[in-house]
Amino acid sequence: MTDLSHLKADFPVLENGVHFLDSGASSQKPIPVLEAMDRFARTSYANVHRGAYKLSVASTEAYEAARRRVAEFIGADNPSEVIFVRGTTTALNTVAFGWGLENLQEGDRILSTEIEHHANLVPWQMVAKRTGATLDHIPMTDDFRLDMEAYESMIGPDVKIVTVTGMSNVLGTMPPVRQIADIAHRHGARVVVDAAQLVPHVRVNVSDLGADFLAFSSHKMLGPTGIGVLWGRMDALEETEPFEGGGEMISDVTLQSATWAEIPHRFEAGTPPIIEAVGFHAAIDYLESIGMEKIFEHDMELTEIALQRVGDVPGVSIQGPNNTIDRGGVVSMTMEGVHAHDLATILDEGGVAVRAGHHCAKPLMNRMGVAATARASFYVYNTEQDIDALVTGLRRARELFGMS
Ligand code: ALA
Repeated sequence: MTDLSHLKADFPVLENGVHFLDSGASSQKPIPVLEAMDRFARTSYANVHRGAYKLSVASTEAYEAARRRVAEFIGADNPSEVIFVRGTTTALNTVAFGWGLENLQEGDRILSTEIEHHANLVPWQMVAKRTGATLDHIPMTDDFRLDMEAYESMIGPDVKIVTVTGMSNVLGTMPPVRQIADIAHRHGARVVVDAAQLVPHVRVNVSDLGADFLAFSSHKMLGPTGIGVLWGRMDALEETEPFEGGGEMISDVTLQSATWAEIPHRFEAGTPPIIEAVGFHAAIDYLESIGMEKIFEHDMELTEIALQRVGDVPGVSIQGPNNTIDRGGVVSMTMEGVHAHDLATILDEGGVAVRAGHHCAKPLMNRMGVAATARASFYVYNTEQDIDALVTGLRRARELFGMS
């Protein structure tokens, strides 16, 4: 077993003994991240790209160093391909509105999947409505995988963009992104990956992944909220119009028109999340000090234990792949006769924090025929004891509902 239990001491929030199993929603922050942000705010903070004075130069350097660190982390050769945005949702909206409105028209098709988070569904619905393009969804198989046969039958020259999750926030399923991208590219389509759950847990190299756009958030990978990344291959970004206008994204402005600054700045209108970029940089350093391979190994060991022990609780069904093949550390469950919200409340009484509800994936819930699930998601600070506490809570819920 990969033992990362020593890391727990780095996370002040966990000092009260909470069994925190909701990193899929947002992760906790280690002391080095908190300290980096505090130190920067106390010593080096000013707005970026605007001032000739020393403090602004130092702040700009820290912000751009964070961009370079992200680029290195995801294997991007060119740091200009890294755009700082508010989070995955903004990144996906930037592609949908910035690329979609420019490149889609009536008769074109957008291909998404049945297992997406609303952030990778709703923007495409909005853009389809505005452009006249149609929106189709690759179905899920009964064993919670993406139906690749269906995908191959759905793709065609009219498909202009394929947008898929890298790891489902409900199921843990990791679709074969490389294969999806290769097929899409053979038909001339662009490929977007919602990597909000993927990048925090799996070593991602954008060259190997094969996508054109990748979206992820800092707050799910030990960094602060308010900052995330849209990575795009330069040729794909060149096809994209800015989604927001404002300060620092222009080259020139008259009263009637404007021209854009170079990429990435044209996509970063207004004052960016500067302190957050410094925290994000520290979070990546922290993750790399553990090693992404070790993190994934640890996630999967916990997932294997959880699948066995949770699956052994009578009346509980795992809503997701029942094995550790091509999946991540997200385990959704339903309990017969107990609503997911009641389950989460009972678990909370035992100090176990899980998310319950539709997880911003209502079409997927409909496909599974459930209203809601309770979801445990794992990260570096979780241990086998957290899963024991989860299982104890599940058994307690059965007792409370009069089931043995
Ligand atoms: N997308 C986040 C989740 O799955 C909030 O919980």
